Amino acid sequence: MVELLRRETGVRGHPENESFAEESTPPSCKCPGRTTTSSSDQYASQFRVLGQREALAPCGGDHLETHVVGPGVVVLADAICDRGRIAPGDDRINEAVASASLDVLIAKAESAQVLRVIGEPEIQAGVLAGQRGQLDPEAVGVDLEPLVIGVGKGEHILASDPTAIMKHTKKVIYLEDYDMAVITGDKAQIHNLKDKKRPTQKAELLDYDNEQAVLGDFPNFMLKEIFEAPATIRSAILGRALADRNLIKLGGLESVLGQLKYIDRIVIVACGTSYYAGLVGEYLIEELAGIPVEVQLASEFKYRDEPFSRSTALLAISQSGETADTIAALKKVENYGVLRLGIVNSVGSTIARMTDAGVYCHAGPEQAVASTKAFLAQVTVLTLIALHLNDGQTKRFKPLLEELDDLPAKAQEVLDNADEIKRIAEKYANYRDFLYIGRNNAYPSAMEGALKLKECSYLHAEAYAAGEMKHGPLAMIDKDFPTFVIVTDSPLLEKTYSNIQEIRARGGPVVALATKGNTAIKELCDDVIYMPATPLETQPILHAIVTQLFAYYIAMSRGYDVDRPRNLAKSVTVE
Ligand code: AGP
Repeated sequence: MVELLRRETGVRGHPENESFAEESTPPSCKCPGRTTTSSSDQYASQFRVLGQREALAPCGGDHLETHVVGPGVVVLADAICDRGRIAPGDDRINEAVASASLDVLIAKAESAQVLRVIGEPEIQAGVLAGQRGQLDPEAVGVDLEPLVIGVGKGEHILASDPTAIMKHTKKVIYLEDYDMAVITGDKAQIHNLKDKKRPTQKAELLDYDNEQAVLGDFPNFMLKEIFEAPATIRSAILGRALADRNLIKLGGLESVLGQLKYIDRIVIVACGTSYYAGLVGEYLIEELAGIPVEVQLASEFKYRDEPFSRSTALLAISQSGETADTIAALKKVENYGVLRLGIVNSVGSTIARMTDAGVYCHAGPEQAVASTKAFLAQVTVLTLIALHLNDGQTKRFKPLLEELDDLPAKAQEVLDNADEIKRIAEKYANYRDFLYIGRNNAYPSAMEGALKLKECSYLHAEAYAAGEMKHGPLAMIDKDFPTFVIVTDSPLLEKTYSNIQEIRARGGPVVALATKGNTAIKELCDDVIYMPATPLETQPILHAIVTQLFAYYIAMSRGYDVDRPRNLAKSVTVE
């Protein structure tokens, strides 16, 4: 057994190994519940997509997990290495191997080879990953995937994504760095190979139900998750926005309340939709809490060298909690002595564990690649954090606290207007180019709207601050280039009206998103989508539901797979 390992412990990127992988005759899938293999490239991609259901379709059934039921012993050896390399003859693994008459060894390192079965060839292996924080993925050349152990009745289930386990059990154990688990059907012993004294992880209960992870009567996850808007906002504020006590309670920040008092600058890092949520958060925190905020793309932040004082906090926003660039941004400031905070949806994910404190979104599992409900939850949580930092200092505190309670009903009102949004969206489904504009916090709403259309319908869509039109974008406008204008009630309404007139004067079609009761806007635009009135600060939450539906209906009328858009992954775990 050891022999096999030593020969295969090279790491990818060492040319001789690549070829080795190719040669190997991949064992075929023998029984449901065990993962499959194929040629290394496909294998590697299969390695990475293990968390995504359909990728395993060829083997039939949703095979995200490996069941350990029999007396057989599975040893999960996580990253028994320093800097991503398995040291040949690494006694700890040999010890583990020798000690446990194991049937299956699941080791991380050079997954393609190591995953080949030790023992009878037909026994398949699962995949395991360590915590990116510790390891240098480039060195290992494989993507590190989280790994979760489900504690069932007389069985343990291994998967890279808790949602895959949920239909079997809600009790899960998340593996930490250098953890090794020895599992039988009825026992899972976890040892940390780096710090032997570290207490064993406790099983945690998944806080969402199976119902949430299955489609129900919806045609796809994207529409289902858009229609979860009222529930999403409600669960994000549950037990946190206490209007009756005029109080915001964020348990996840309690351990750092002392430090938060001295924070005089917040740098938000994120990617994609989470980045746009951060941009909305900038308006909220600066205007409600008076703390300067900078929002940076994590992929840029990683390579910048900017001043950081101890009174600066870094706030990472991520739905999956596994986005490589955002993790790298957190890692970059690891030794700066700054507070590292997180807003994360996936419980127990890498970012949730790397940060000093944070707030979970509680939006439940988000399956569609295009993030929808998680964005609503992120902006709702940012509103809570801004009010929490404001601590009742401004007169905006109470009205906004009360408004948060009314938002789920207003979100439902937007959804009740879905057919009208569908009618208008289908009218614009054959244009190739789109511009989204808005002023103040409607500008990041415009950016997020444009991203949704790009992701789902593959159309060219870009967003601009409305005040920028004369400085360039107006040149693009003609009868074939429609503009989606976010012009909900705000002190800047008239200003945005003049932008609309500029566009119409060039023959540009205009769809407007306006506040119910605004009749004037009808004269100015080709089509108007109305949303209920809500204060400026909370408008982006309702803006998003409309732009998500608009993008969704255009994509559906163009016949695209909205849950699995081409060229995109739900969690971008590589740089
Ligand atoms: C959004 O719809 C995309 N899926 C993508 O831009 C995403 O927001 C980005 O990759 C960040 O992901 P995260 O929130 O899981 O970190």
